[in-house]
Amino acid sequence: MYAISPTHRKSVHAIALWCWIFRGNDADYRELEGWPTDVVETFISRAEANYSSHIMCLLERRWQPMDSTQISLPVDELPKKWYNIAPDLPEPLPPPKEPETGPSRLEFLKSTMIGECLKQESSSQRWIQIPEAIRSLYVQAGRPRPLYRARRLERSLGLKKVRLYYKREDLSPTGSHKVNTALVQAFLAAKEGKRELVTETGAGQWGSALSYAAKLMDLNCIVFWVRAVYRWKTDRRTFMKLLGATVHASPSQETKVGRQLVREDANHQGSLGIAVSEGLEYADEHSGSVYCLGSVLNHVLIHQSIIGLETIEQFKLVDDDPDLVVGCFGGGSNFGGLALPFAGEVLKGKRECEFLAAQSEAAPNLVRGEYRYDFGDVVGHTPLLKMFTLGHQAEMMPIRADGLRYHAAAPLVSALRHHGLVEAVAYPADERVIFEAARLFFQTEGWLVAPESAYAVRAGVDEALKTEKAGDSKAILMNISGHGFLDLEAYKEKLNIE
Ligand SMILES: Cc1ncc(COP(=O)(O)O)c(C=O)c1O
Repeated sequence: MYAISPTHRKSVHAIALWCWIFRGNDADYRELEGWPTDVVETFISRAEANYSSHIMCLLERRWQPMDSTQISLPVDELPKKWYNIAPDLPEPLPPPKEPETGPSRLEFLKSTMIGECLKQESSSQRWIQIPEAIRSLYVQAGRPRPLYRARRLERSLGLKKVRLYYKREDLSPTGSHKVNTALVQAFLAAKEGKRELVTETGAGQWGSALSYAAKLMDLNCIVFWVRAVYRWKTDRRTFMKLLGATVHASPSQETKVGRQLVREDANHQGSLGIAVSEGLEYADEHSGSVYCLGSVLNHVLIHQSIIGLETIEQFKLVDDDPDLVVGCFGGGSNFGGLALPFAGEVLKGKRECEFLAAQSEAAPNLVRGEYRYDFGDVVGHTPLLKMFTLGHQAEMMPIRADGLRYHAAAPLVSALRHHGLVEAVAYPADERVIFEAARLFFQTEGWLVAPESAYAVRAGVDEALKTEKAGDSKAILMNISGHGFLDLEAYKEKLNIE
């Protein structure tokens, strides 16, 4: 006889279907109890064969009405695999190259980076299993994260035909999406017997995320932080130190390249490219240390695909689909994390969707960069990667969204841009319209976003207004890559708040 187990998914399908078809939704589910098991099993398999996943969501009562504001995925539906778009690209991704002179950079990376991450870097596997231990770290860090419909923002913009959604990567222990790869890198480094993680940081979000992940894995963490930002983000510095990290303003006295730059200019403001060079040199010279990167590389975008994979499932729950995906863009990890799972389906002809990267005129790598081989750091410790680049020694003016100041764009996103799948826009470096969009978002939706994420909000709002004016209907999805609780100095300055 069939016995109902409330946690058994198939039972829930069958029971809900039974109630829906035969009895109306108020029927007593327990009526199936005691039926011959083979009859119920046949019923279940017919139901599964005949109903789309959306109807199954409805029948399981997971379906959330179109007017929901918060669209949540149950914890047990956290994706089990990451997505790697490399095998689905229109052409193979151009491989990393050795420069013509100097030592082998590929060998250098082998000795300074995490072995498993390097394997993922050149993987042609489309789906990569997420180890259970990492899934539980993700849950500990608040995954799955909700998707929101921006109803109050829509109302304040007078939108009638355009729907705005945002994914909540700000709801993370350290305040951004960076935790999605930090946890993986710390876990894998510990598994490979390393004792120390070394990294660069621009905005401080990546440094915070890695400090947090290192502490969970009982590893040391050394952060080289772009000096200009290290100076003004004093609270974020405290945050990293609270997590036990050692934080150096870069350029620093810790490395040859740092000392040289400080000799040339005692007040050097630093850059992300310099901080990467310092971190690589430091990791190379300290045994047991590995270098961890927070953006750009393929393995980082693979880990970040968790964002888009969750979001695809969340849209099914409200029976909607984005027509445009918008993310801010520094090196490409939050944008790629959200966009690439959708882009993979576009490439396979399974959906139609456009993609827009929001950048600053201070570092418009996708907008004004050239698609060519370049180094990932100032000194040239890394191999050459084919990417949209402004040149690895390009000088970039300071902005408050420091996390967007990187000279080059992730090779995976660069390849998609090269094939015409990704559009990009660059906003003026005075950032006035960016912070105004962030204020509007705060005053309507109630969430204070990171300066970087404010670029996605600005671009999402601009696109929404343009579409509405043209009389078209569209769903626009924005990524809120981080919160702005530790960025109030920037808000004060840019919005003239006393
Ligand atoms: C909140 C936030 N969003 C976005 C970025 C940009 O990086 P990426 O393009 O890799 O997502 C950063 C970088 O520090 C950040 O802190």
